[in-house]
Amino acid sequence: MSDLRTSYMGISLKNPIIVGSSPLSTRVDTVAAMEAAGASAVVLKSLFEEQVRIDADAFEQDLARHNETSAEATSMFPHLEHAGTRTHVFWISEARKAVHIPLIASINCVTKVQWTEYAKALEGAGVDGIELNLYSPSRDLDTTAAEIEDREVSILDEVRQAVHIPIGVKLHPFYTNLPNVVKRFEEAGADGFVMFNRMFQPDIDVDQEIKRARYQETDSRDTLLPLRWIALLSHHLRAGIAASTGISNGRDMAKVMLAGARATQVVGVLLREKPAHIGRMLAEFTAWMDLHGYKNIEEFRGKLSRVNPNDSWNFTAGQYVEGLLGLG
Ligand SMILES: Cc1cc2nc3c(=O)[nH]c(=O)nc-3n(C[C@H](O)[C@H](O)[C@H](O)COP(=O)(O)O)c2cc1C
Repeated sequence: MSDLRTSYMGISLKNPIIVGSSPLSTRVDTVAAMEAAGASAVVLKSLFEEQVRIDADAFEQDLARHNETSAEATSMFPHLEHAGTRTHVFWISEARKAVHIPLIASINCVTKVQWTEYAKALEGAGVDGIELNLYSPSRDLDTTAAEIEDREVSILDEVRQAVHIPIGVKLHPFYTNLPNVVKRFEEAGADGFVMFNRMFQPDIDVDQEIKRARYQETDSRDTLLPLRWIALLSHHLRAGIAASTGISNGRDMAKVMLAGARATQVVGVLLREKPAHIGRMLAEFTAWMDLHGYKNIEEFRGKLSRVNPNDSWNFTAGQYVEGLLGLG
């Protein structure tokens, strides 16, 4: 029987399937359902910066609706000023009591609001780690990439100073030089990286001539982008990598782990196929390990990562042309 145990951000996991931040992780019952379906950990739905900036009226209404819960959260974290954060921290502490698997809280932060205070509150609620989702598309013609990266690193740095639990960074693939950014995040104390976040792309309905914010589903083909970067970077990092985007079956899991990932984060396929699909993915992954004679994950993890500077993971211009001409 194959041993599926792994670890990510220093957190021990019974298998490599972490349910990513999504509607699958917004309530205590949905988190419990993920545990029952076999997930090894859950990243809780992000609290977005906009929610932290909730206005005072909404705060009062929220307080009235959740009288008891807010009272407890207030006494636990007297410096938190927003109902959004208070109720969020409270439900997370309830989820912590309800399940045994590791829980990772997610913060979607763009600017330096009170992330340190909030991160401390999440740590107090008992989560095993924090994931920072730093993506915010820039609309500013004057800000440089270096300034944005500096700000992101300093957010991580401040959160790192504030908490003792592991911190992961959910990356987007659009940095000019991802290896350097990853190195800087690691130096600032990142324990893990999620490669990659999936962006909602605004669309236009040409019949009605209106904008539509629509989620584009992912599938196994979308794993190729994270696959390449995981293969390129996993050898260089102390921090673990969780592959995300399009991971849909046991073969996708095997692929990203051969490239060096320690775990996977899965969302889209579970929204489509329902949480029971976790069992099917684990069965397929186990069957692949058995077929290849692997007893545990460390026997093959990173086997096909970039082992020398000339590896085709680099995709030089020549390889690109060869690939296009079908010569590769
Ligand atoms: C409906 C929906 C809501 C999501 N909400 C969040 C969120 O709050 N925070 C976050 O970091 N990622 C969020 N994500 C992104 C997922 O965590 C994940 O990175 C993305 O869906 C790619 O993985 P997949 O291909 O397995 O779906 C959301 C995804 C979906 C589909």
